[in-house]
Amino acid sequence: MRKKRFLVTGGCGFVGSQVLQNLIKTPHEIFVIDNLSTGDWSWILERRIDLKICDIRSKDALDYIVDIAPHYVIHLAAQTDIPTSMEQQHLDADINILGTLNLILACKKVVNFERFVFASSAAVYGNNTELPLIEESRIQPQSPYGMSKSICEQYLSLNEKMDDFPYCALRFANVYGNKRRAKKDVISNFWDELIQQRAPIIFGSGEQTRDFIFVDDIAEALILAIDIKRGGVYNVSTNEQTSINEVFQRISNLLQIQLDPVRQEPRIGDVYSSCLSNQKFKIATEWEPTYTLQTGLEKLQEIKMKETLHATKNSDVVI
Ligand SMILES: NC(=O)c1ccc[n+]([C@@H]2O[C@H](COP(=O)([O-])OP(=O)(O)OC[C@H]3O[C@@H](n4cnc5c(N)ncnc54)[C@H](O)[C@@H]3O)[C@@H](O)[C@H]2O)c1
Repeated sequence: MRKKRFLVTGGCGFVGSQVLQNLIKTPHEIFVIDNLSTGDWSWILERRIDLKICDIRSKDALDYIVDIAPHYVIHLAAQTDIPTSMEQQHLDADINILGTLNLILACKKVVNFERFVFASSAAVYGNNTELPLIEESRIQPQSPYGMSKSICEQYLSLNEKMDDFPYCALRFANVYGNKRRAKKDVISNFWDELIQQRAPIIFGSGEQTRDFIFVDDIAEALILAIDIKRGGVYNVSTNEQTSINEVFQRISNLLQIQLDPVRQEPRIGDVYSSCLSNQKFKIATEWEPTYTLQTGLEKLQEIKMKETLHATKNSDVVI
């Protein structure tokens, strides 16, 4: 395997740290840009990774990219919270759109640059009900966050047309796994509430569905995407939809904690149902999701149990 230079933006975040775990098993050189706004570096204690603490919107980030001249960029750094994107539209657009543009323009200065892999989202489809969604399905974001992802895809496509800029945008379904600092998703939220014997909130009827994909499968997809022959947009998902009520029941069963959820009004900006076809990405890369929702939840339980055991051991005081 020829040694290449990888830059992972947002490498200290939820998805990014899993990508780093996979990359450190390869001989490639690894660089990270992160401003640590939601990320955490403390547990990525790996000397081989060069961390640049800066904002993707800054000149520092641009200079760093030109300096390290990566072959590949996996761009994950973003404002990822939908309610924040609604309350602070300017901030969301600034980080997600202008930050991404800053990186694209920096990569265009790098000789022998090979591919920009962008973390897009199912949020670009909004409330499109023609499930499963394919890449050609109508784009109709329901939130500034979804809009920002869609605009970045358009900037990437335009730069490909103008200057053959090599890119690939992966529209992730709902990613779950062991979240440490990042804003909680529905699975982490149910998990943490139930463990503390508190009743989780379910917005709306709970019959709304999501396509849940385990973070390890996403990390693998991001690395495989560098070799895709034809750039463009790809869904990365399981192609399965599960209702929020069912997710709640599965987690309750795993934890053996039965509490009635608190029911509240649906939230503005939430899509009703979501399921993404992963055929295009599977054909392009031979990738397959390795986890079903059940095996992913079981894996999550195993990780959390190990963490608890480790924390307990470390807190044992010997007098
Ligand atoms: N987690 C999901 O369900 C999901 C679904 C679809 C798409 N995505 C996309 O995947 C990517 C990663 O998501 P995540 O869940 O790991 O989020 P995360 O919040 O855990 O990670 C984002 C990382 O980017 C860093 N960051 C944020 N703003 C920055 C800035 N201006 N400059 C430099 N660094 C900055 C944060 O410190 C953090 O380490 C995001 O682009 C997100 O939009 C995630």
